[in-house]
Amino acid sequence: MSEIAFLLNGTPVQLSGIAPTRTLLDWLREERGLKGTKEGCNEGDCGACTVMVTDAGGSRALNACILFLPQLHGKAVRTVEGISGPKGELHPVQQAMVDHHGSQCGFCTPGFVVSMAAAHLNGDAAHDDTLAGNLCRCTGYAPIIRAAKAAESAPVPEWMEADRTALSSFLLPQISSGGEPPQAARGADSPPFFRPTNSDDLADWYLQNPTATLIAGATDVGLWVTKQLRDLAPVAFLNGVTDLQQIERQGGMFHIGAGVTIATLRKALEPHHPSLAELFRRYASEQIRNAATIGGNIANGSPIGDGPPALIALGAKLHLRRGDGMRTIPLESFFLDYRKQDRQAGEFVAGLSLPESAPALRCYKLSKRFDQDISAVCGCFNVTVTDGHVTEARIAFGGMAGIPKRAANAEAALVGQPLTEASAAAAAEAMAQDFTPLSDMRASAAYRLKAAQNMMLRYVHDLNGTPVSVLEVEA
Ligand SMILES: Cc1cc2nc3c(=O)[nH]c(=O)nc-3n(C[C@H](O)[C@H](O)[C@H](O)COP(=O)(O)OP(=O)(O)OC[C@H]3O[C@@H](n4cnc5c(N)ncnc54)[C@H](O)[C@@H]3O)c2cc1C
Ligand code: FES
Ligand code: FES
Repeated sequence: MSEIAFLLNGTPVQLSGIAPTRTLLDWLREERGLKGTKEGCNEGDCGACTVMVTDAGGSRALNACILFLPQLHGKAVRTVEGISGPKGELHPVQQAMVDHHGSQCGFCTPGFVVSMAAAHLNGDAAHDDTLAGNLCRCTGYAPIIRAAKAAESAPVPEWMEADRTALSSFLLPQISSGGEPPQAARGADSPPFFRPTNSDDLADWYLQNPTATLIAGATDVGLWVTKQLRDLAPVAFLNGVTDLQQIERQGGMFHIGAGVTIATLRKALEPHHPSLAELFRRYASEQIRNAATIGGNIANGSPIGDGPPALIALGAKLHLRRGDGMRTIPLESFFLDYRKQDRQAGEFVAGLSLPESAPALRCYKLSKRFDQDISAVCGCFNVTVTDGHVTEARIAFGGMAGIPKRAANAEAALVGQPLTEASAAAAAEAMAQDFTPLSDMRASAAYRLKAAQNMMLRYVHDLNGTPVSVLEVEA
């Protein structure tokens, strides 16, 4: 069996001896001559390289520039060249783009068309969300959104359904009969990589290869390759480890595997934690959310990641595995210092647990752009009031310190008080003792502190039912 097998626009492809960090974008353009897929930013920001990937979990738009070829094993890829029919028939979204003048220079158009076709296939009409990861410099978004709306009711062309059938009848049986080798696969002259299918194999291998790079969604690691030109060998790809991709409900808790994507988590948590789901809506873009995992978001230890502050406010527990051993710690104690986490050599994030219900949880993301932007400040509040007084306060911020961090002084100022504008103002005052934020291109230190303090007041207004979201507030 070849190392990597997938369907490309309906045709089986088998590759061996491939460098594990070869991106799909480079391979498509340089070796397949499929140049409809464009390179804009090469870092997941612009969507010019969008492709559609289908597997047993469904079809989704992904950025080919930060997608490594081994991540495609067992899946079907459709580029813009495969979005039109076998006889050149236009897909309804392509026809609508023509009819509604959705393209001028055309550079962004293939990426838009693939995103639109994936959303059309999934019956997803939230166009502002599904297209937020596609940037256009010249047409403007109104005609493109009009085109997406116009195509909504058109039937899905049969060739767009073909990948799922083809996967089940051809590729998956072939892969499962061969199985994945439990040892590192190596091409003739390329570095080794490992693609486990369960967390036991991952745990064994990582214990023996503790300096290896784990690659989950590659939305951080991809940039280490495309921007920093780093050599990452040896690497292990986690996207085949299905037991890390489960969400279970038990005993009033969600148990979430490290390999669950932000897109899946957003959908699963929406009815239970709507404010967190709304935060995830503004997490990067559709393409990034479809790839990025919650385990990667935690493990990379970024001080400006959006997941950790919300999860800390929820009181999440982190499960870490090393060999056969598991340990569980409060999520906040995982972050020790800037980019330094409480993780031993050979230990990986297995998952996390969080309460099913937290009606007072509110998450506020402040960034320069509404969509597809990293937070300048992300503030998450979860304050429990019993018999008119605060009995527990969990307030956590991203962007205010070298790690995602709780506002211990602000929390202490609230406990025992009624939750009012006055007690929130006192807590906001105390917050100045909690943080010494940095100034950088996203925000100055003074702005960050002021914004965080104002979020404390916003929280009280929010719980009282005053509209506080920019989408709700009207002049
Ligand atoms: C365009 C763009 C926009 C973004 N916007 C946002 C945003 O709005 N908010 C935000 O929070 N982040 C954002 N990010 C950052 C990124 O999406 C997240 O940090 C993401 O969750 C990382 O997950 P991943 O699965 O892609 O991790 P990877 O890139 O695969 O890995 C990240 C790190 O975690 C390690 N790792 C992965 N899984 C495990 C595991 N199970 N155990 C131990 N280590 C592991 C890897 O070795 C690596 O060090 C953005 C990134 C891009 C490119
Ligand atoms: S080239 Fe910009 S997202 Fe891939
Ligand atoms: S049509 Fe020119 S960038 Fe979109």
